[in-house]
Amino acid sequence: MSAKVLEPKTTRRQFGQSIGTMLAAAYISPKFLQGVTGGRLKGFSRADAILINSNENPYGPSPHAVAAITGSEAVACRYPDDLYARAVKSIADLHHVDEEKVALGCGSTEILRVCDAAFVGADKQLVVAEPTFEAVSYYAQVSRASAVKVPLTSDFRHDLPAMANACATGVGLVYICNPNNPTATINTRGEFADFLSKVPASTYVLVDEAYYHFVEDPHYSSVVDMIPDHPNLIVTRTFSKVYGMAGMRLGYAIAQKETLEPMRRELLFDNGNAAVLSAAVASLADPDIVPTNKRRLNDTRNWVTSELTKSGYRVIPSQANFFMVDTGNDVQPVIEAFHQRKIIVGRKFPSMGNWLRVSVGKPEEMQKFLAAFRQIVPAPQKSAAAA
Ligand SMILES: Cc1ncc(COP(=O)(O)O)c(C=O)c1O
Repeated sequence: MSAKVLEPKTTRRQFGQSIGTMLAAAYISPKFLQGVTGGRLKGFSRADAILINSNENPYGPSPHAVAAITGSEAVACRYPDDLYARAVKSIADLHHVDEEKVALGCGSTEILRVCDAAFVGADKQLVVAEPTFEAVSYYAQVSRASAVKVPLTSDFRHDLPAMANACATGVGLVYICNPNNPTATINTRGEFADFLSKVPASTYVLVDEAYYHFVEDPHYSSVVDMIPDHPNLIVTRTFSKVYGMAGMRLGYAIAQKETLEPMRRELLFDNGNAAVLSAAVASLADPDIVPTNKRRLNDTRNWVTSELTKSGYRVIPSQANFFMVDTGNDVQPVIEAFHQRKIIVGRKFPSMGNWLRVSVGKPEEMQKFLAAFRQIVPAPQKSAAAA
């Protein structure tokens, strides 16, 4: 991943030069996808490992969703048209929007991919933060588009004013991951309102709210309710995180009907299977699944991050079911040392090369993580920790 990163204060001329350089940037290899899955495990199976690498939810689906998955056996021989319509209706009701404003994806990854297919290309760039979730940059290259990468602020958040400035003519799509993966930081509602007022109407704004449910910061909100005023706004959500169904594959987009049209052309027919569509409807009807998973994952996160902080390690305050901790040196040997202990942690993000991303598991898993972390990463000197 060697696309050019813009300096925070880039002039318009430098911006043009950067784009020129980026056209020649190296192709992002799907290697990052290997990093997402933890790659090949050496000498042990996934069942024997602690998996805290992909921001999954170890508690799994709602019991109602499990029952619905089992029940979907009865309709497995039919194409899932009715179930598709029911899932769309449940999602539309949840967000108080018309059904025509909802599009389903095979995971939100499919939505991210079709946004690239629809809105970027050789003459329409992508603007993203650096670092952020890589799928949108990856699929933009499949669409032969170059990416303008805007560094995060000093407190590891999207630099929305700089990203708005980067949306000059010729930018087809800007991607904002809120909370951001890998830093688990947020941008506030006020910052978004300002950002949306500055981005040209010809640039589509893709806001990825995969980790929306975990946020506790009162200045944060979804931007779904800004869609009526912004035809260029697309919001994505997923059933992979708080709903515990990463293996089932369902996500969705909400946007104005006309905005979804070019995206729908790129979607696979019948991209949701009977089991996951039934499970989604059942999950949305379960009033307990979101608050229960939010509480237990956030409690575990708060406990483990406060232990790390007490020991002098630097942790970025997290608003999601994962966090980043500074290892003080290149993180790659740390990742490998965890692997030897059968603990699979997050991949390296090259622009934050000393930082380890850790997903929140069950308390007993995080106890093992903490013990291993203390063995692998020497605690910072007291004076450095106080700085
Ligand atoms: C920010 C973000 N968006 C989207 C995804 C993809 O999720 P899905 O399982 O819905 O394809 C991930 C997965 O980790 C993610 O971190």
